[in-house]
Amino acid sequence: MRLSRYFLPVLKETPADAQIASHRYMLRAGMIRQQAAGIYSWLPLGYKVLKRIEQIVHEEQERAGHIPLLMPTLQPADLWRESGRYDDYGAEMLRIQDRHERDMLYGPTNEEMITDIFRAHVASYKSLPLTLYHIQWKFRDEIRPRFGVMRGREFYMKDGYNFDLTKEDALHAYNRHMVSYLRTYERMGLTAIPMRADSGPIGGDDTHEFLVLAPTGESDVFYDAGVTELKLGNREIDYADHAAVKGVCEEFTSLYARTDETHDEALYGEIPEERRRQGKGIEVGQIFYFGTKYSDPMGAMVQGPDGQKVPVHMGSHGIGVSRLVGAIIEASHDDKGIIWPEGVTPFHVGIVNMRVGDAACDQTSEALYGTLKTLGLDPLLDDTDERAGAKFATQDLIGLPWRITVGPRGLANGVVELTSRRTGESEELSPEAAAAKLAALYEGHL
Ligand SMILES: Nc1ncnc2c1ncn2[C@@H]1O[C@H](COP(=O)(O)OP(=O)(O)OP(=O)(O)O)[C@@H](O)[C@H]1O
Ligand SMILES: [Mg+2]
Repeated sequence: MRLSRYFLPVLKETPADAQIASHRYMLRAGMIRQQAAGIYSWLPLGYKVLKRIEQIVHEEQERAGHIPLLMPTLQPADLWRESGRYDDYGAEMLRIQDRHERDMLYGPTNEEMITDIFRAHVASYKSLPLTLYHIQWKFRDEIRPRFGVMRGREFYMKDGYNFDLTKEDALHAYNRHMVSYLRTYERMGLTAIPMRADSGPIGGDDTHEFLVLAPTGESDVFYDAGVTELKLGNREIDYADHAAVKGVCEEFTSLYARTDETHDEALYGEIPEERRRQGKGIEVGQIFYFGTKYSDPMGAMVQGPDGQKVPVHMGSHGIGVSRLVGAIIEASHDDKGIIWPEGVTPFHVGIVNMRVGDAACDQTSEALYGTLKTLGLDPLLDDTDERAGAKFATQDLIGLPWRITVGPRGLANGVVELTSRRTGESEELSPEAAAAKLAALYEGHL
């Protein structure tokens, strides 16, 4: 993309009503525009990040054997009357009537609808295990939408649902989700800690929330400092291997880590004092096992090996896709702007042409742009006639992890400058070497 042809409405001023860094920077970098309280348009730069996050979520879900589909945003109220949640859900549910005065709602989550799909098409245990998921807009009429996309009313969520014959199989599905979520967040450059949580209105026995530590988080968290050191890395995981998957879960949940809802002072006190930590966290996902809570009332039964009909064991598993855009910025920014991790950056590198109109600068910038694209990278070329200072400020604000500066002084020596947004360190390289180095840096992220 050439910046002169792009739609990047950056703001010079800090928006007055944005209280936290991610909200401020998303507005200033032209990523979103508020259309109503808690409802946003995703402008091109924000949309690109949202799509990169969504893509990682899909890849890791499919790797774990989970199957994507797409359910609608609008749902008939009758489904929710079957589970009893139409009345329970309260004012957070946006209720609508169509022209025939049928009660509809904008889905805040999809347990009922997926259970309806399941019961219509699955009759035998031979079709199990089955996990279906989608990534779709949700609406919850939050009493206090705030912090931009972090607590929106309309927001983008991955929600997946497992169907299993036995509790044991359903707990394996739970574990599979935990591991796939750990990998998902790591690929986004995040440390998200699974913490035992309270099940709330979805109900059920087992549940963990995934929290990104950040002072602006809305949850109070208590943990053993050791949990922040755990890394999944590139280890191979066989998602069909119950014991191996369970082992990974144990590794990530054996140290104390809880939100205030389940916090236990006595257990917390057993952590060696120098490792006790208290702070704030942003909830970026949650997994639940809830057994037959929906399959029972809605009649989602399968015939077991003995010919008996039994309700399936279920769980649901969510990732806050749009919230993650904000959470990543909360975890990775400085006073100049965003610092995108390589896994989710909207463009891989910014090329700053310092003197547009200078033949050598133009030619080298264009050639680099072409080479990077051939290498599978997605560069943003600043070919505008802004001052150098303004160009750098924009680059710092939008936070691409790498910048190549093409200027007449360097080119006289055959070099361009490659700068890391995170460290601020620069090195001079030939344009070819800079392109090769970027390709190497992004290996594993393309
Ligand atoms: N209002 C919202 N805006 C943006 N993302 C949200 C919102 N509510 C929930 N999410 C995201 O969707 C994920 C799954 O939804 P879940 O039902 O667990 O939310 P929740 O526990 O009600 O969230 P919260 O406690 O923050 O209100 C959450 O972990 C969070 O990342
Ligand atoms: Mg939750």
